[in-house]
Amino acid sequence: MTRTFDIDAIRAEFPILSREVNGKPLVYLDNAASAQKPNAVIDGMADQARTAYANVHRGLHTLANETTDAFERARELVRGFLNAGSVDEIIFTKGGTEAVNLVASGIAGEIQPGDEIVLSVMEHHSNIIPWHFLRERHGAVIKWVDVDETGALDMAALEQAVGPKTKIVAVTHMSNVLGTVTDAKEIVRIAHAAGAEVLFDGCQSGVHMDVDVQAIGCDYYVLTAHKIYGPTGVGALYGRAASLARLRPYQGGGEMIEIVEKERVTYNEAPHKFEAGTPPILEAIGFGAAIEWLSAFDMADVQAHEHRLYERAVEGVRGVNGITVYGTAAGKGAVMSFSLEGAHPHDIAQIIDRYGVAVRAGHHCTQPLMKHLGVSATARASFGIYNTETEVDAFIEALHKARGMLI
Ligand SMILES: Cc1ncc(COP(=O)(O)O)c(C=O)c1O
Repeated sequence: MTRTFDIDAIRAEFPILSREVNGKPLVYLDNAASAQKPNAVIDGMADQARTAYANVHRGLHTLANETTDAFERARELVRGFLNAGSVDEIIFTKGGTEAVNLVASGIAGEIQPGDEIVLSVMEHHSNIIPWHFLRERHGAVIKWVDVDETGALDMAALEQAVGPKTKIVAVTHMSNVLGTVTDAKEIVRIAHAAGAEVLFDGCQSGVHMDVDVQAIGCDYYVLTAHKIYGPTGVGALYGRAASLARLRPYQGGGEMIEIVEKERVTYNEAPHKFEAGTPPILEAIGFGAAIEWLSAFDMADVQAHEHRLYERAVEGVRGVNGITVYGTAAGKGAVMSFSLEGAHPHDIAQIIDRYGVAVRAGHHCTQPLMKHLGVSATARASFGIYNTETEVDAFIEALHKARGMLI
């Protein structure tokens, strides 16, 4: 049953939101970096540890079986969240970063010098550096696609960049700085027409929109738990069954093998082939709890709420002299990056923290984008399901005060 969107009830489930910071009520607007956790996640993990914990997959005893059931149930929840066709297409990783590394490392053996990888200029470093490894170590060529002045991906440039040498197009589904949501289906159409695979970095999008990997038609989709109200230390990679069958394992160790002899080794099937060693068991179960918690809402209600907050913030900063907001693409997510003329973003973040307001400042692990925007850093307010209009107003008020002190 779909939950009514009741902001007070939602907030009451996040214990941290009732604390104060520097003597003021906490206004947490750093959700794009990491989101807070509801009781369902905190208690879900603790209850599992208290009542039914053992290592997964290996045991024949009751606790091992119960833990394995809970862990595999979490995999099923991730599958449902992404609408993947099979649980075998869901690999648990330690986060978004590891998921991209897993794919890049897995296809490394197929890369010939001159093979091309297409990235957008707004990628997070975790969707850049693994591909730089292929450039440095295997002679791959990275082709970059720009964004236009609104922050929308230049689709004509993407179409030009993709060609017969393209191995993979790896782009964000939603930018962590600009909030831009990319046209996933169209990107897949362009890439597949050229015989290239597509990976979407869904670390930001997963929490703000319904994702359907089968409808998108992508080959890989990256998710991280800690941005969707789940724990750190766990994420997921969706991989199309045919792609995973081909991909070479990323790490070796226990559970990912079929037979190990002195002279040879054969591997387990996906997803186990990619999950060497003891996985993040409690974290995966917490990930499942976060998905269950979030999925109880109608995503349209969540989106509408976050959009209202974003619009109110944009409207509010209009009254602050010298503000530039980065990213105005149609349909963007609730992330507002900005700068204030004459003030360093770090100083803004530090001053508004005195008023209890948490925002991020820096390059946001997107140095190519910062260069494109002609700045070294921005400040960023990012909105989540539990934020309120009163909090947006507190943020704007704090910003006015910061401006008064800095300029
Ligand atoms: C767009 C994007 N991709 C990838 C990541 C990395 O994810 P993780 O922290 O799970 O490694 C982040 C986290 O900041 C992100 O915002």
